[in-house]
Amino acid sequence: MKRLGIAILAGAERPQYNGDETSTISGFRSKNMSDDRQQESGSAGRAFIQTVQAAVSDLDQWSQITEAEVAMATEMTRRNELSGGTPVVREFEEEWRRWIGTRFAVTVMNGTASLYSAYFGLGVGPGDEMICPVNTWICTIAPALLLGAKPVFCDVDPDTLLMDPEDMRRRITSKTRCIVPVHLWGNVCDMDAIMTIADGHGIPVVEDCSHAHGARYKGRMCGSIGIAGCWSLQGSKPVSAGEGGVLATDDQELFERACLVGQVNRVAGIDLVGAKYAELQPLGLGMKFRAHPLGIGIAKVQLARLPELNRRRRAYVEEVEAGLAEIPGLRPLRRCEGAERAGFYGFPIIYEGDKDGGPPAERFIVEVGKRIAGASVTPYPNLHELPLFAKGFDIFTRNRGPLCASEGYQGYKPGDFPGAELACRRTVMLPILSDPVPGAARRILDALREAAQRQGR
Ligand SMILES: Cc1ncc(COP(=O)(O)O)c(C=O)c1O
Repeated sequence: MKRLGIAILAGAERPQYNGDETSTISGFRSKNMSDDRQQESGSAGRAFIQTVQAAVSDLDQWSQITEAEVAMATEMTRRNELSGGTPVVREFEEEWRRWIGTRFAVTVMNGTASLYSAYFGLGVGPGDEMICPVNTWICTIAPALLLGAKPVFCDVDPDTLLMDPEDMRRRITSKTRCIVPVHLWGNVCDMDAIMTIADGHGIPVVEDCSHAHGARYKGRMCGSIGIAGCWSLQGSKPVSAGEGGVLATDDQELFERACLVGQVNRVAGIDLVGAKYAELQPLGLGMKFRAHPLGIGIAKVQLARLPELNRRRRAYVEEVEAGLAEIPGLRPLRRCEGAERAGFYGFPIIYEGDKDGGPPAERFIVEVGKRIAGASVTPYPNLHELPLFAKGFDIFTRNRGPLCASEGYQGYKPGDFPGAELACRRTVMLPILSDPVPGAARRILDALREAAQRQGR
């Protein structure tokens, strides 16, 4: 059965991104669940499966799960390898560490927990400030809030959708404890500029690589440039554990503190490197962020397939991007010098057809949606516009916490981040295809061209 790629929000007529967390926000059923499975659930729209099914079934022949993942999960289950730092978990961590080129890597239950572990590892806490781009998934910043640190957003470059290093520089204060660039949609941040500014102030950088598995900057693996790299292995990511995450670092203190906060009972072997925290182990702080071994087993299979996945996605993305030159009002994102994209968690392009009084991106997307499924607006709201950050919130109750006016939080308002606000208005997400059928890129380009012509461009 053919699925509609665009859901129209009642009244708002807002084309929905249908490959990510917005499907939970909107309450609309996810593209990721086939019609049959929705019906089986008996309550369409309530069950929620967030893994990669073929997004646009007639254009993509990729299957995220193969017999190899099934075999791995079956064998691990037969061995009852279902909890703790099992051999497969250890092997995966070792592979990841070598691949990224860091001294340490540890798995956790999701990408959010990997960021929490990194921030805790750095000692981020009450009174500290943390800078991240205003356009990212909320999980980049959420762990800092829960650690009591104040979020400080910086603008993004509307041509790359990535952290604007100069704006980041302006937001540094004596309280800045950490800077978190995000390699959004697989595009790579200007790491030289970011590291030069951060190093100049002695502030550590944690890279959020949740969209960019395998990306490089000037030959170096993303995630190994700052003090730590964090990845989500959530079900729609290029390496999926269903739910999972990884933290990699060269820094022993950060690593040991990360293990302290979430790896209860996992000290044997690699976790405890020095004697500093020995008396607190094996229980650490008693929190558990440990990954489920079955998920990590599946991710281990997927990691081996990542180079092929990246190759296919790159070829498709580059073919479409090259074709945009012929279509008025559309252009690709800019890449930083030395950036080698990977992961390709989403496929944003820039729509400027609204210049000179043309229709807004949302109308253009509706027009594209009549021809191909899977185009949408950007799924990530600018964080400063969410009530949580715009107005603040009493996180710890009784007027305590980093988002309280009583603790100096001033909130944000529309207009505070012109780059990100422009980017949100003009970003069009195209379907990301992992194994496009022959001619798929051409069909995407035809759809874009026809939609543009229909609007008189
Ligand atoms: C940029 C970014 N950071 C962090 C996360 C959090 O990862 P997880 O969902 O595995 O907790 C996500 C999830 O999509 C993300 O997109």
